[in-house]
Amino acid sequence: MIFRETEHKLYHELASTYDLYYSRIFNYQEFYDKIAPILEENGVKSILEVACGTGRLMEILEEHSYIVTGLDLSQDMLNIARKRVKGDLIQQDMRRINLENRYDAIVSLGSSFTYIQSDEDVEDTLRGFYTHLNADGVLIFDCFDKDRLSTASHGKWDAESQSFDDLTITRKSMSSGWNQDDGTWLVDWEWTIQNNDDTKTVFEQQKLKAHTFKYLEKKLREVGFTDIEKQDTRRLLIKAVRTD
Ligand SMILES: C[S@@+](CC[C@H](N)C(=O)[O-])C[C@H]1O[C@@H](n2cnc3c(N)ncnc32)[C@H](O)[C@@H]1O
Repeated sequence: MIFRETEHKLYHELASTYDLYYSRIFNYQEFYDKIAPILEENGVKSILEVACGTGRLMEILEEHSYIVTGLDLSQDMLNIARKRVKGDLIQQDMRRINLENRYDAIVSLGSSFTYIQSDEDVEDTLRGFYTHLNADGVLIFDCFDKDRLSTASHGKWDAESQSFDDLTITRKSMSSGWNQDDGTWLVDWEWTIQNNDDTKTVFEQQKLKAHTFKYLEKKLREVGFTDIEKQDTRRLLIKAVRTD
């Protein structure tokens, strides 16, 4: 099995750049605020955070006394998370999760599900989520919403810079038009990291994918999930329960 399509530079050689830059793009406190009522309603104590990245949400969950295990494909991302969180960190592919423990909740935010693209991968990933939940365990994950994709900035370069002490990170990005049939699109990124006299530039093209709620609901039902709900957010945020 080749993992090449998910071995992204952004999560390997640029892991520390991701950590800084996305701390300004994503509002992790808002992520927490969205899921906190669901965790409370379901009496959750233990959480598996899938694609936990550099551990920024995991850190907030731990501050609220949840026992959290983080899982990510990238050891480079986990190495940064290690400095931030107490819980176990496991390097695994979410399409083939294989752990001894079961959890009260599985959480995966930040649109990491965009990398789960074929029917087979969607089925394997959701089955893995199901089998690693306790009875009445709750799954919460987000992804790009195929019903709400915008074509506004396609085909044009966008540039944005963020400054951090002695470091400036510039992200130039351009999206291809998205394929309306399968919900995929290509994004070209050019990252420039400037540190005093030193400048490094890294290019990467990634293939992203959006899903519809209807499609994911069907796939969730097929592996046994019930109480499947779409939460009201900009991204497609889905809650589902393992009831058996
Ligand atoms: C956009 S980042 C989100 C990280 C974190 N959840 C956050 O919100 O900052 C996507 C993450 O998914 C991870 N990832 C991509 N494909 C994966 C896979 N097949 N299995 C596990 N993690 C994966 C990447 O290594 C990266 O950490």
